Amino acid sequence: MIPIAKPVIGNEEINAVISVLESGMLAHGKFVEQFEASLKDYCGYKYAIAVSNGTAALHLSVLSLGKNKKIAVPDFTFGATASSVKLSGGEPVFVDVDKKTFNIDPAQLEKVITSMDVAMPVSLFGQPYDVDEINKICSENGVKIISDNAQSIGAEWNGKRNFNDDIAILSFYPTKNITTTEGGAILTDDKNVAETCALLRNHGQKERYSYEFPGYNYRMTELEAAIGLAQLKKLDSFIETRTKNAKILSELIGKHVEIPFADKRCKHVYNQFTIKTDKRDMLAKNLKSNEIGYGIYYPSPLHSQKAFNSHVKCPVAEALCKKVISLPIHPSVTEEDLNKIADVVKKSV
Ligand SMILES: Cc1ncc(COP(=O)(O)O)c(C=O)c1O
Repeated sequence: MIPIAKPVIGNEEINAVISVLESGMLAHGKFVEQFEASLKDYCGYKYAIAVSNGTAALHLSVLSLGKNKKIAVPDFTFGATASSVKLSGGEPVFVDVDKKTFNIDPAQLEKVITSMDVAMPVSLFGQPYDVDEINKICSENGVKIISDNAQSIGAEWNGKRNFNDDIAILSFYPTKNITTTEGGAILTDDKNVAETCALLRNHGQKERYSYEFPGYNYRMTELEAAIGLAQLKKLDSFIETRTKNAKILSELIGKHVEIPFADKRCKHVYNQFTIKTDKRDMLAKNLKSNEIGYGIYYPSPLHSQKAFNSHVKCPVAEALCKKVISLPIHPSVTEEDLNKIADVVKKSV
């Protein structure tokens, strides 16, 4: 079986977990603080706040800008992007995406921007959204930006990991480029946002049993942070292998299906290798019978889901949902695996 995702866990992570277990300090402590310091340096932000998962990171990011906001989100993404808006009393406004990059289409965002408080572009599958265009549109209209970079740690725009946004979030779920088991983080250059998120993460407590406002328990554990510290040291080599695998697979199947497009201004970190084909269902069936994992990210646009039920029209997102399929390119995939995947693709389309 070639799985669609596989976390790479070595002795460094295992030894780190054992040393935390032996230390007796399991909840928030020095490993969380070290992980935050390493993350902010790696990502190029002033502050990093580690939390229990990427959804919690989104939720706190939205709350730190205020409740009941109108927030533009892409129609083609994971549900948590829009849920975090609803959970904060806000209204997600679904915006269509670009068919080449899968990311929010700046021209479509521009149509609704004057009535938005915040924009929440997503760097889907590991490719940054069009940072130049989105920053321009948002700054001209006084709209704040929360980047949902859950899938794109390590990605760059014009050589930078800091996208000049107000807040960015990461997820460390096991399918992501690095994992802490469950986990997430908030990145920002804004001291007030950082302080508010840190309080909201820990029951609103500035000091023990002194509550500034009602808060959550969205803390990351020491075990998770210790794993994260070991994973972060390996991230660049994971990205290098993913990129190499994506290149090999692109060369093998590029004449048969539409392979991922990478904007020249960015570094794509290939959290997913997502192709488009009209024969998607046949390909899925054949991959399954050949014991090759795949993912349909995503089978339906968010606006059409019961949780959101919005009447916007997003024809590009609708069409993509019928054609996309993601293939394994994670660091444990071998060249032999890539040839096997390519053979099944070529025979199916
Ligand atoms: C685009 C996007 N946003 C948010 C999340 C939520 O992250 P988590 O699963 O860590 O809560 C994910 C996770 O899959 C994601 O892909």
